[in-house]
Amino acid sequence: MANQSGGGGSIESVLVENRVFPPPKEFASRAQISSLDQYEQLWDRARAEPEAFWGELANELITWIRPFSTVLEWTPPHAKWFLGGTLNVAANCVDRHAEGPRADKPALIWVGEPGDERTISYKELKDEVSKFANVLKGLGVKKGDVVALYMPMVPELAIACLACARLGAPHTVVFGGFSSEALAGRIQDCSAKVLVTADGGYRRGKVVPLKANADGAVDHCPTIESVVVLKRTDDDVPMVEGRDRWWHDLAASASADCPAEPMDSEDTLFILYTSGSTGKPKGIQHTTAGYLLGTAYTTKVVFDLKEDDVYFCTADIGWITGHSYLVYGPLANGVTSVMYEGAPNFPDEARFWKIIEDHKVTILYTAPTAIRAFMKWGKQFPKRHDLSSLRLLGTVGEPINPEAWIWYNEVIGGGRCPIVDTWWQTETGAIMISPLPGATPTRPGSATRPLPGIVPEVLDHDGNPVPDGHGGLLAITQPWPSMLRTLWGDDDRYRQTYWSMFPGRYFTGDGARKDADGNFWIMGRVDDVLNVSGHRLSTMEIESALVSHPAVAEAAVVGKPDDLKGQAVAAFVTLESGQDPTDALKKALAAHVVKEIGALARPDVIRFTESLPKTRSGKIMRRLLRDVAAGVESTGDTTTLEDLSVLAQLRQGDEG
Ligand code: PRX
Repeated sequence: MANQSGGGGSIESVLVENRVFPPPKEFASRAQISSLDQYEQLWDRARAEPEAFWGELANELITWIRPFSTVLEWTPPHAKWFLGGTLNVAANCVDRHAEGPRADKPALIWVGEPGDERTISYKELKDEVSKFANVLKGLGVKKGDVVALYMPMVPELAIACLACARLGAPHTVVFGGFSSEALAGRIQDCSAKVLVTADGGYRRGKVVPLKANADGAVDHCPTIESVVVLKRTDDDVPMVEGRDRWWHDLAASASADCPAEPMDSEDTLFILYTSGSTGKPKGIQHTTAGYLLGTAYTTKVVFDLKEDDVYFCTADIGWITGHSYLVYGPLANGVTSVMYEGAPNFPDEARFWKIIEDHKVTILYTAPTAIRAFMKWGKQFPKRHDLSSLRLLGTVGEPINPEAWIWYNEVIGGGRCPIVDTWWQTETGAIMISPLPGATPTRPGSATRPLPGIVPEVLDHDGNPVPDGHGGLLAITQPWPSMLRTLWGDDDRYRQTYWSMFPGRYFTGDGARKDADGNFWIMGRVDDVLNVSGHRLSTMEIESALVSHPAVAEAAVVGKPDDLKGQAVAAFVTLESGQDPTDALKKALAAHVVKEIGALARPDVIRFTESLPKTRSGKIMRRLLRDVAAGVESTGDTTTLEDLSVLAQLRQGDEG
């Protein structure tokens, strides 16, 4: 296994801020969980009686069509939760609010990048979701059919997710920044029957050509029978007769009455692809009841929700954070969720702050990489706006450096808003380790304590707990409702990836350290997964993209520490004989990666080299390449290196 990616060396903290921030008194006095004692009692109780704990929560937070009879059936590594129960996620997120006092409350407040806005009440959302569910039905979508969504951040994306949930058709959302090739690979893997896309979406004032990309993908996807196209821009797009239909044409004649399908607890709600340490993305499979409970529960307690909260999660629905904390978690709780289409610096660097002022946002949930960009742009942008409506801040996606934490606290939170640094993964479905804002003293750089019901441990390679203060591997030792159930179509890979390291316990792929107070400090990935601007990328996927270019003989990709992105992508490439190592070729290779995967995987640095450092058995020594990319001396063992002169050559080579 590789060392901590990006850092090189062993798993050790690089964080130095030692201040502890207790929950502000005023905040704690109104919080659902308002003291550390109360948190500890809850955690201990959940540890002692997990089934009673989760069973009670499931009855409290979910509206069941038929009650469940068994809380958990655990045959490691497969868990089944809330057996015997039936429910519908769309009915829980929409219908039950559409009929009571929340009927006219905004469910979604949407801000388009060009400045257009829409507010959709729970009652209206129910009609929109039902209509689109009928549209999908009209296209032959039935319970169990997979629907792919490749869309901009517009309300129709949330509506389409919920319409799928209403019918029991698992959705797979593909982030709009992925290329045709990446979209095709995902559709092929899950055999989606319908693709929902848009003519385009806005990003920094330009149109992202989603329909053109979708056309390129669908040509290679024989399972797609129909393509539904939302009109978002003024661009003309070609429509394929018999296959492509406009959303507005279909919705115009669709009825707003569509009964919600009773789903079994363990039926699949969605598949979301994420990068693993091998080339092929993994289809993470989440189920109906467990996922709904995980997101509803964690949104409620981590964000200490109040009825009048206006909650703004800045993630794209193409990622798990958007699924769990823009759509399902907030809507299950009946709060108002704010959704923004575009870039944080369009038309200027104050865009988020304007949205917060305009809509009186109370809770902001964003990524450390965004906070670092805000810091770089300067205080003058947030200072232009009234941010006094904010009462709570959250971060997710990567470790937050103390400087960014303190800036977020002072400049955005005005020193009065607790910060919840939430650790979790696509696989976990919901937040696992996080402060509870009214109870947990926060420490910049630590996600602090596990939520009640979650039992993490830091282990050595043999599976023994390491002493407090020492780095090790982060595992989760008890099943939890929103855990992934398997990888779509590849249960062997599921077992291998998550359960072979510590049989019976879930291996996260992260390194971590626990301090004497029980706080967890996440140290980043220990496998070949990169975290670039909070986005997960596989080194091997980028390597395969590079070697699929005819000029490339071999490629090795590693993470390089980056002040803004956390990690940047550094590629070391050897060329086929006769190829010239020119700047033009570097550009062509970068463009090739963008074509194969998407702009988010574009290498920041490409280095041509005559050979790659390898062990005598032929394994690429990535640790050495990480040190070269980071510009640090390798302190580790190089005795297994086949040819020491390779390293010397790499150190002399130019970057760029
Ligand atoms: O390395 C951890 C990092 O992001 C990984 C999960 O990535 P993904 O599945 O794309 O989900 C991102 C959003 C949940 C983890 O294995 N990570 C996520 N949150 C944190 C984090 N690292 C440190 N601190 C966090 N709060």
